[in-house]
Amino acid sequence: MSENLAGNEDATRSYYESSDVDGFYDAVWGGEDIHTGIYAHDAEPVAAASRRTVERLADRLADTLGPDRTVLDLGSGYGGTARYLAERFGCRVVALNLSAAQNDRHRAANAKRGLDSLIEVVTGSFHEVPYAADHFDAVCSLEAFCHSGDRSRVLSEAARVLKPGGALAFTDIMADEDTPAEALLPVVSRLGVDALATPSFYLRQLADLGLAPAAFDDHSTQLTYHYVRLTAETRAHEAELRATISPAYVDGLLANLPLWVDATRAGLLRWGIFSARHTVA
Ligand SMILES: C[S@@+](CC[C@H](N)C(=O)[O-])C[C@H]1O[C@@H](n2cnc3c(N)ncnc32)[C@H](O)[C@@H]1O
Repeated sequence: MSENLAGNEDATRSYYESSDVDGFYDAVWGGEDIHTGIYAHDAEPVAAASRRTVERLADRLADTLGPDRTVLDLGSGYGGTARYLAERFGCRVVALNLSAAQNDRHRAANAKRGLDSLIEVVTGSFHEVPYAADHFDAVCSLEAFCHSGDRSRVLSEAARVLKPGGALAFTDIMADEDTPAEALLPVVSRLGVDALATPSFYLRQLADLGLAPAAFDDHSTQLTYHYVRLTAETRAHEAELRATISPAYVDGLLANLPLWVDATRAGLLRWGIFSARHTVA
C-alpha cells in the first residue's frame, strides 16, 4: 500500500477513534447508524431516517440474501446495517471496518441482540479486503467510501470478492459534477480527504469493472433535510455534548455543520444509492 493511502487510513482511524467524534455520533445516532437519512418529513429524527436508508439499500440486495448467504459490509461503523441485514434475511454478515474501537462496540451490540453467531466483525481496510475472489453473495457499504484516498481500488476490491451474479449496493456523499474541488475544501476537511467522488465517476468505474447494469437512485434532495436535522439535533444535545466531549469539538461542529447546510442548498453535493450486479461470465 502507498504511503499516501496508509496516511489516509491513519487519519480516518484517528478520526473515528477520537472520543469526541464517538461521543457525537453516539448522541445523535444512538450507536446504530452513522449516515445520511431518507426523511419522511422534515422534523423526523436523524436516527429514524437513517434506518430508512438501510432498508432501501437492503431492498437492492434482497434477492441475493437468505439464511445460507453471506454479505460483506465495507466500513461497517457500529454495525447497524449488519444487524439489520442479519435480522431481516437470516444471512451471515462480514463487517469489515478500520476502527478497532468501533468494532468493539459493534461486537458488544451484536452479543446483546443475540446476533454474534451471524455477524463476524473484522478489523481491516476496504483497500485490501482480506478475502479470496468470488467469496460473497452481496457486498454493501454506507457512506464509507467518502473517506478513501483511492476509490477505484475500493470498487475493484468489492468486485473481486463478489461472486458472479452477486449484488453490490452502496451509498456515498459526493460532489456535484460541476462543483470545483476547492469549493468543498472547508466542508470535507472533517472527512480527512481533499475531494469527493461524483456520481458519474462511480457509474464509469462500475461499468469498467463489468458490474452491470448499474443504477444510481439520486436522493440528493435529502441532503438538505439531513444537515438541517443534524445541526438541530446537535444544538438540542449541546449541553449534554459539552459535558461529555471537549467543548472545542462541539464549537467546531456547530461551526462546520452549517457549512454543510449551505453546500447542500447551493447544490454542491450529491447523495444516493448505487446498485449493480456482478455479471455472470
Ligand atoms: C460515516 S461512517 C459509516 C459507518 C456505517 N457504514 C454506517 O452507515 O453506519 C464511515 C465508516 O467507514 C469506515 N472506514 C473508513 N475508511 C475505511 C477503510 N479504509 N477501511 C474500512 N473501513 C473504513 C470508518 O471506520 C467508519 O466506520
